[in-house]
Amino acid sequence: MDDSRETQGVNAFVTGHPVKHSRSPLIHGYWLKQLQLPGSYRAHEVPAEDFATFIASLKNGTSGFVGGNVTIPHKEVAFKLADRPDELSKELGASNTLWLQDGELHATNTDGRGFTANLDERHAGWDRSDRAVILGAGGASRAVIQAVRDRGFKEIHVVNRTVERAQELADRFGDRVHAHPMGALVDVMQGAGLFINTTSLGMDGEAAPTIDFSALAHGAVVTDIVYVPLKTPLLTQAEDQGFAIVDGLGMLLHQAVPGFETWFGRRPVVDEALRALIIADMEKH
Ligand code: ATR
Repeated sequence: MDDSRETQGVNAFVTGHPVKHSRSPLIHGYWLKQLQLPGSYRAHEVPAEDFATFIASLKNGTSGFVGGNVTIPHKEVAFKLADRPDELSKELGASNTLWLQDGELHATNTDGRGFTANLDERHAGWDRSDRAVILGAGGASRAVIQAVRDRGFKEIHVVNRTVERAQELADRFGDRVHAHPMGALVDVMQGAGLFINTTSLGMDGEAAPTIDFSALAHGAVVTDIVYVPLKTPLLTQAEDQGFAIVDGLGMLLHQAVPGFETWFGRRPVVDEALRALIIADMEKH
């Protein structure tokens, strides 16, 4: 860690459009305080037409930031404008974490690491089976497919209302990933040890379809990357049917860890107080 980072601290951002609903400043602010670090992390709204200018100012050092997080709608452009995107970002075609190093802009995507770290923390052994079912083929499902594949699942079944989108992802992520229409859901759930919802079904109080999870393997885990509400209708159904469930809030918290460590030089811990802080914030809005 260099001296300036130690004494004055460095500044990091989360950018998006809009970005005011982002909970990232709360998460990083909590860790900065807990670790008694002098840096800052703040929301910095940038509309799409100004994003390239913002990245240029980041690269030439005039922005005042050492790096930050990127959210909707900038993740794909951030990847394209980075000098050194890593392999994870290259395969996804999108980056959510940027940092300057030796005058070059590096980029990664931490969503997949957030996904696996959350399951490792809340349900160790979640990765013991060979077969996973992923519902949804939108932007949010990509990092999940990549993470599940990289953890070693041998058969990954992506089920989506628009099967063409699932097929695009099967083509992108290799021959362990298979695409199916909604009608195939029950069939592909046979014997699966992991079920992941990546769709917006059941988000924010919206109705969700009824799913019969009984075809899953004994001891299977059901998780949702949606965390508003914390216990989504799909998780409630899976729990009522006797399956272990893991909510999606931990993915949000854990995906923040690598960025914080890179910008501020200390590896933070996802603890219960942080989780409680975000839940309290969710209850306010
Ligand atoms: P994100 O980037 O957050 O994943 P998205 O790209 O809009 O958002 O994708 C949303 C996902 O939820 C998609 O898989 C979408 O299915 P389609 O690809 O067929 O649109 C799925 N989804 C949303 N509403 C749905 C509904 N009512 N029934 C089934 N799937 C739905």
